[in-house]
Amino acid sequence: MSEKRFPIAVLVSGTGTNLQALIDKVHGREGIEIVGVASNQPGAQALERAQRAGIATAVFSAEDHADRGARDRAMAAWLKERGAELVVLAGFMELVTAAFLGEFPAQVINVHPALLPAFPGVRAIERQLEHGVKVGGVTVHFVDEGVDSGPIILQRAVPVPYTRDVEEFERRLHETEHVLLPKAVSLLAAGAVRIDKDNTRIVHVDEGAHGD
Ligand code: GRF
Repeated sequence: MSEKRFPIAVLVSGTGTNLQALIDKVHGREGIEIVGVASNQPGAQALERAQRAGIATAVFSAEDHADRGARDRAMAAWLKERGAELVVLAGFMELVTAAFLGEFPAQVINVHPALLPAFPGVRAIERQLEHGVKVGGVTVHFVDEGVDSGPIILQRAVPVPYTRDVEEFERRLHETEHVLLPKAVSLLAAGAVRIDKDNTRIVHVDEGAHGD
């Protein structure tokens, strides 16, 4: 049986360890192909990771466009041209506009280092420690117009280390992200993720379709 092709694109701003996990774990497997990596930051280390893997890259910085809407339209056009059927925000440090989301309905996902709806937005790791939580975690969710507010696809708890050391907690969260994000992409590629038609907050996931 021939595998169905599942072209995806990844948006990045920073170091790109989540992009690297996607390159290592799902790119070129199960029909999944990363067809483009776009960044709002010209110097993002993530772009080098993509180039090393032979993946097309592009930069869409705010300064080069009249406003965020124009930037997002240009970025959406590039991603469409490359045939992306799923857009993964992997450390993309900006909100995408409604117009961008309209181009990719229920096809944009994000990874966040907290158990949403707790600790959305920036400094999520530090804020969990400041709050004194005992258990943090990672969420992969569909993106809507809000800040980390879209329907949840997968979550995994990560206990706060006894030392409450921020670097150690961050390391454990990232390790979990690097498992959970590729897993979510793989489940989406397998058609194992479905938004409930009567309650669009609820995402049904057939986790049997993918082993860790
Ligand atoms: C990750 O912690 C992700 O959850 C957050 O931004 C960080 C990106 O890290 N949205 P990297 O660029 O993938 O290394």
